[in-house]
Amino acid sequence: MPKLNENYLNVQDSYLFAEIARRVSAYEESHPDKAGDIIRLGIGDVTRPLTKRAIEGLHRAVDEQTTAETFKGYGPEQGYAFVREAVADYYRRNGVEVDADDVFISDGAKSDTGNITELFAQDNVILVPDPVYPVYVDTNTMDGKKIVYMNGTEENDFLPMPDDRVKADIIYLCSPNNPTGACYNKEQLKKWVDYALKNDAVILFDSAYEAFVSEPELPRSIYAIEGAKKCAIEFCSLSKTAGFTGTRFSYTIVPKELTFAVSDGRRMSLHDMWNRRQSTKFNGTPYIIQYAAAQVLTEEGMEECMENISYYMENARVIAETLRRKNIPFTGGVNSPYIWFKCPDGMESWELFDHLLEKIQVVGTPGAGFGVNGKYHFRLTSFGTHEKTKEAMKRFEQLF
Ligand code: MLT
Repeated sequence: MPKLNENYLNVQDSYLFAEIARRVSAYEESHPDKAGDIIRLGIGDVTRPLTKRAIEGLHRAVDEQTTAETFKGYGPEQGYAFVREAVADYYRRNGVEVDADDVFISDGAKSDTGNITELFAQDNVILVPDPVYPVYVDTNTMDGKKIVYMNGTEENDFLPMPDDRVKADIIYLCSPNNPTGACYNKEQLKKWVDYALKNDAVILFDSAYEAFVSEPELPRSIYAIEGAKKCAIEFCSLSKTAGFTGTRFSYTIVPKELTFAVSDGRRMSLHDMWNRRQSTKFNGTPYIIQYAAAQVLTEEGMEECMENISYYMENARVIAETLRRKNIPFTGGVNSPYIWFKCPDGMESWELFDHLLEKIQVVGTPGAGFGVNGKYHFRLTSFGTHEKTKEAMKRFEQLF
């Protein structure tokens, strides 16, 4: 009989967004007359089609597969050099130097932030903000690792800062933050880098929403902070930047400077470990996708992406305006596609979820799904269409 990984008993029955989808389907089944009215502003899934450059890249790469001379079989597990260079070049244009050799191409920041836990032993102190993207918590729980939470609250603008009384080994940070939309400034991130260097800790920095940063003084990468290459791994993706939620392309930067002492006194390199892990367990993102991603990462490609991002940020403005008119406190929506607001009338977040679905057929994400500090908060995404976002907020305004 196999002995099962009983840590799975300690995770919620279903992943947050799977649970939301389940509840929405149940509603659709019991209210078939209302199913067509449902507006989905829950999971952060994009609605704009892929950009012209991405599509052209995909077509070109597909055509290459028709002749033996240009056909591609297995590629390098770390990603093709041309796209690793394209990522490094994208960083350079944003004022940050990264070595293309430290860039690992993958199929999602979700997979990589989950898989990275394999590099770390069981008995680490893992610091995770609450509220938080549930993948960090679920994957560590599945591994049986112990998590220490740091509170993100209205008092600290949902941006927890290091506490010298806690000696962490691994720290998860996400900025711009999912779910709160809050974004660390350089001084704040510097404090985290200093803390990590002082404690010989590693920061796992999720920058999946960096392209939404509109205030130029805010950092879009942890490597904008001096010393970060000695203490941080960065995860990023084209899912939200370029509408690749279905196409799948991400990159993880693991600098060679990241080495830590092990029990026999030697130093191990996280770069080498990740390389070893990926070479063994991953055969790379499809060539076709990597080729299209390289087109997206050019200056012209990014200009097209920014048009889509501006489209979404117009939705964020509409949501924010409605909340402001209703005197409902919120964060986000300026440097992030997410708006995180206080549930009106003292409601709890799952209560508000059911209320919005029942009364106005609007789907959002209950803050409780992101941690205990989200119990009275709710997240809306700006990834819908203009028409549906406006309609959802019109219904919301009539309801409250
Ligand atoms: C979200 O809605 O939080 C995201 O879409 C989830 C993800 O990127 O996996």
